[in-house]
Amino acid sequence: MAAPDRTAVLVAGGAGYIGSHVSRRLADAGYLPVIYDNLSTGHRHFAKWGPLKEGDVRDTVRLRQVMADHRCRAVMNFAGLIDVSASVTMPDAYYSVNTMGTLALAQICLEQGVGAFVLSSTAAVYGAPQGGPIPEAAPLEPLTPYGASKRMAERILEDIAAADGLASICLRYFNAAGADASHGIGEAHDPETHLIPLVLDAALGLRSEIAIFGDDYATPDGTCKRDYVHVRDLADAHTLALEHLLAGRPGGAINIGSGRGHSVREVIETARRVTGRDIPATVRNRRPGDPPVLVADITEAVRVLGWTPRRSVLETIIADAWQWHQWMRRDEADRAARSAQQALGGQSSNES
Ligand code: UFG
Repeated sequence: MAAPDRTAVLVAGGAGYIGSHVSRRLADAGYLPVIYDNLSTGHRHFAKWGPLKEGDVRDTVRLRQVMADHRCRAVMNFAGLIDVSASVTMPDAYYSVNTMGTLALAQICLEQGVGAFVLSSTAAVYGAPQGGPIPEAAPLEPLTPYGASKRMAERILEDIAAADGLASICLRYFNAAGADASHGIGEAHDPETHLIPLVLDAALGLRSEIAIFGDDYATPDGTCKRDYVHVRDLADAHTLALEHLLAGRPGGAINIGSGRGHSVREVIETARRVTGRDIPATVRNRRPGDPPVLVADITEAVRVLGWTPRRSVLETIIADAWQWHQWMRRDEADRAARSAQQALGGQSSNES
């Protein structure tokens, strides 16, 4: 049961990468995060800042019970499928979890008089826009079922806000990265598809190289540019969004990025500097569906939420991710180092 002095917030997907960082931040700010997760991709040991309630985001019976038991006053939804390529081959799963899951949560908010909803959305709702930093008013033309599933979830929340007074903020993340190693949380996807953790695997010798997906884009060094935002800054943005809604202010869609772009080559170069390791890189074919440049215009986040990204500097993001990554992968890294040593030993005895 919720402690009477702490406002309970249902954090669907709270055992995942971003949800766990937000749960920590919420607990720090005096809220009780009620972590609701089916642990399909989340980690039990990431759910340590509030009670863990296992369940699927589409299971309305379970959700209704958990939200009523804890008298949740707000909902945050991180429960979602995130692999952009996989969404093309199994779109039904993406619409089911990302879109229908959001609808299920919103309906229970309406039933129980919960007035605030923060949705984990994505820059993928914009598709492949041309030109400079992307404002929220840019056309919404998602290229994949992943982006479309989030766009539909946003639309559901917009319509419900207009009709029923469930206020919502859809935070459109650009490239979330970094970690909070001192609290034992960071990026740990399986399979991993994101650039920074893969680059760090290469630094640890767990991959022989990092593939650069295309170097013939219309960007200064030919590789794609992305806007990397520190997961701890993202966590701050969620707390501010929640407070904004609980204070009765109107919601909407807000970009969360650093406002700066970095190419794939810049990320690899920075990782070499930060880790002091050799990171072999090879140019491969383009990955289908990758927009050349995605950089956020963050004017609205600053103006509406009073948010400032404090740690979203590429060096800091990679240094924090590196600290976590070395710890998370310590067993695999030890094994890789031992077998490299043995191979070297075998070689010298053969030669002698
Ligand atoms: N990349 C490589 N090699 C790799 C992995 C990635 O070159 O091994 C490149 C990608 O082509 C891309 C950049 O590194 O240009 C970043 O790729 P990520 O997979 O880390 O992230 P994305 O930009 O593809 O994905 C992010 C979010 C999604 C969101 C998408 C919008 O993670 O949630 O942006 O395009 F949908």
